[in-house]
Amino acid sequence: MTGQQWCDGAAAVLGGAQSLMVVTGAGMSHDSGVPTFRDAMTGLWARYDPQELATETAFRNNPARVFGWYLWRWHLVRGVEPHAGYDALVRLESMFDDFLIATQNVDGLHCRSGSKAVVELHGSLEAFRCLDRGHPYDTANIAGLAVPTVEEVEPPRCPDCDSPIRPGVVWFGESLPHLAVGRAWSAVAQCDALIVVGTSALVYPAAELPEIVVRRGGPVVEINPESTPLSPRVTVSWPERAAVALPALVDRLMATRSGA
Ligand code: APR
Repeated sequence: MTGQQWCDGAAAVLGGAQSLMVVTGAGMSHDSGVPTFRDAMTGLWARYDPQELATETAFRNNPARVFGWYLWRWHLVRGVEPHAGYDALVRLESMFDDFLIATQNVDGLHCRSGSKAVVELHGSLEAFRCLDRGHPYDTANIAGLAVPTVEEVEPPRCPDCDSPIRPGVVWFGESLPHLAVGRAWSAVAQCDALIVVGTSALVYPAAELPEIVVRRGGPVVEINPESTPLSPRVTVSWPERAAVALPALVDRLMATRSGA
């Protein structure tokens, strides 16, 4: 099929929706230069072991290594710009009264690009807090520590309780932020259609969101150059990059809405 045929097929699936949900993963940011987790060779987990870096135990065992790795990731995402697919999602939001983006990404690019209805299921690289009591920590105190290379950096201590400062991301084995989960799971219960972009659909509970719509026979469009466990079950699995597919899809939906 041609790109236009994929686009037309995806737009046909979404055309009648009144309420829309979008679920995004690391592939959404790949076209902005942010590495994914599982893409062969280029993914973060190909170069770093998640058990060594993305768990509370790892942080307690070696706070400087874990803190330094997140500072590097924070530096990286602060240096990139949202691509055209992010702008397309901002336009898409304006077309629906009932719209939500539930992202697994911690890079803040949806909000930076102007999307308003966003929940960050796995937290944010921008939201540092103390390990033991969760006291928020002013990132202005550490912005200068964010560096372009992965180095070991001893985390600062909380001014209120002296516990070490940690990144505000969800580590393996931790529960997702309750408010974000509440909004995402109530939105998915009532949305007419769902677009899932740039996720390997392997990590739960976030991977459950498109499954919920698939199970009730609702329209689901997947945008991912590679196939995933979801691909055979969704309505349209568009083998395309987010930065290419999303702008084309939104242009097509807008043209349909305006009767072109
Ligand atoms: N456009 C769309 N999708 C893309 C692109 C692109 N340009 N480039 C890569 N992809 C796809 C890959 O094919 C892959 O299916 O993005 C997906 C990225 O998968 P992962 O690296 O597993 O990222 P993600 O699904 O977000 O991981 C979920 O796992 O490690 C945890 O907390 C971490 O939030 C993360 C979660």
